[in-house]
Amino acid sequence: MHIDLLIHSAAQVVTCAGPPGPRRGPAMADVGIIPGGAVAVHGGKIVAVGPSDDLRATYTAEAEIDATGRAVCPGFVDPHTHLVYAGDRVGEFEWRIAGASYLEIQASGGGIISTMRATRAASVERLVAESLPRLRQMLALGTTTTEVKTGYGLNLDTELRQLEAIAALDAAQPIRLVPTFLPAHALPPEYAGRPDDYVDLVVQEMLPAATRWHAESSFDSSRTPLFIDVFCEQGSFDVAQSRRVLEAGRALGMGVKAHVDEFSALGGLEMALDLGAVSVDHLDVTGPEGIALLAASPTVAVIIPSVTFNLGGSHYANARAMIDAGVALALTTDINPGSSPCPSMPLVMAISCRYQRMLPAEALLAATINAAHAISLGRQIGSLEPGKVADILIIDAPDYRHLAYEFGGNLVGTVIKQGVVL
Ligand code: NIG
Ligand code: FE
Repeated sequence: MHIDLLIHSAAQVVTCAGPPGPRRGPAMADVGIIPGGAVAVHGGKIVAVGPSDDLRATYTAEAEIDATGRAVCPGFVDPHTHLVYAGDRVGEFEWRIAGASYLEIQASGGGIISTMRATRAASVERLVAESLPRLRQMLALGTTTTEVKTGYGLNLDTELRQLEAIAALDAAQPIRLVPTFLPAHALPPEYAGRPDDYVDLVVQEMLPAATRWHAESSFDSSRTPLFIDVFCEQGSFDVAQSRRVLEAGRALGMGVKAHVDEFSALGGLEMALDLGAVSVDHLDVTGPEGIALLAASPTVAVIIPSVTFNLGGSHYANARAMIDAGVALALTTDINPGSSPCPSMPLVMAISCRYQRMLPAEALLAATINAAHAISLGRQIGSLEPGKVADILIIDAPDYRHLAYEFGGNLVGTVIKQGVVL
């Protein structure tokens, strides 16, 4: 058979393949290595994965890549980002160095509200222009699919403008974007002291508008889901308010996500699991009871060591206990201007191995197939298996473990997106 592309003679093809569903427990240490492997690609999809001799005997290809001495793995999936915003918060970085905490800065009117002001003042074109360089960096670092949240508009107009920017960015560059609506990210100043009134607005006007927008967007035609998310935290939204937002989104057909247990365990984790969340994210202060609940649920736990690292914290999510208990664990950058100005999945993997005692294999699966399941795309992307989208990385090292072992550089030599060599 004649195909578009054959990648062959790789030192290792790391398939991340396995049974349907996210990897858990001991299966998180098995990345599925084919020494001397090859990947056959046609029509943007993977058609075969196996030993180079076999595939070279079966296929002739329009283009070939000799991957001698290099590892080949799936493109990274970043399942939690806030990459569409205007401005920056480099001043707050210095305040934190001087001793202010993230929540103190937020309580004094900085933080998310400061980015809200800049984002409300920005046009769609401006948001696209400021966000595109972040996506370019992510692509160069191996991310081929990313979730993107709204949450810096905090009014109907600007939240919809952020959705417009996400759609425009999806069309403007190779990374596939998956939108999440996050109008309850912080309480906008015009609702100060009236959080329940803001939740009324979210539930009654903003969520229906976002659903209508999605139904008419390119995301609906490409069968890309729309998620609902909420920041359940002290100083943000309590459990009852968060539940109202998520229930309303779910009733409109949105997949449920939630920021929970970042600084305080309010009960948001239990609430989100009760609603059948696709993912719960942060989990830095989740204890043994929460971990047991997670392990017994189908929900993917998305942890964010780059936030703890960036905030100079010491309360990293207990990833080791989570994996050992059988939790389906994923990693993310959470790229945003405050808690994690970080585009790099390999850096997140490197931190997780050092501070959370994750093995490189566990970090890779958490950054690929499990991250894909965290955005409900685990059947399309996240592993090198026939039928999946051909999102493939060629690593400038003979062993995938170098992705986490080295840090501060970029070992992603070649990115292939939907069969196209970039
Ligand atoms: O996931 N925790 C809430 N939201 C983001 C931070 C956003 C910001 O600081 O601008 C997060 O860490
Ligand atoms: Fe976040």
